[in-house]
Amino acid sequence: MARTVITFGTFDVFHVGHLRMIERAAALGERLVVGVSADALNLRKKGREPVFGEDERLAIVAALKVVDEVFLEESLEAKRDYVRQHRADVLVMGDDWKGRFDELADVCEVVYLPRTPAISTTALIEKISGNA
Ligand code: CTP
Repeated sequence: MARTVITFGTFDVFHVGHLRMIERAAALGERLVVGVSADALNLRKKGREPVFGEDERLAIVAALKVVDEVFLEESLEAKRDYVRQHRADVLVMGDDWKGRFDELADVCEVVYLPRTPAISTTALIEKISGNA
């Protein structure tokens, strides 16, 4: 049976770490759904607006060859609902979240993939603005 994979992220200032995570997530099934976190959610959680707005970030992620569907993630606490709504068989998260979503193992397989070393949106913003 075809497996649906779901993953989440902000994907602001899109970089190769994002691409690799999405490609590795896609390789775990036949259909990939990506939740792109809303501007308001980022402001609440990280204390700053993303550089690119949610519509732009959604458009960039949706344009990737391996992505079948995108949606706006409005709440970090609603992962269980999103997994159900999208009929996901596998939840993929970066290993910076290791263990945090194990409670969802009753509705889907939970996989943590290693992050690509030495790159992040935060580091890129600092580098470009001359603070790193
Ligand atoms: N990711 C990754 N390797 C990186 C950076 C991100 O595999 N070097 C993954 C994250 O684990 C997550 C997805 O890409 O699954 C989206 O991450 P996001 O938080 O949007 O990107 P970061 O670059 O980590 O952003 P920030 O610096 O703002 O935390």
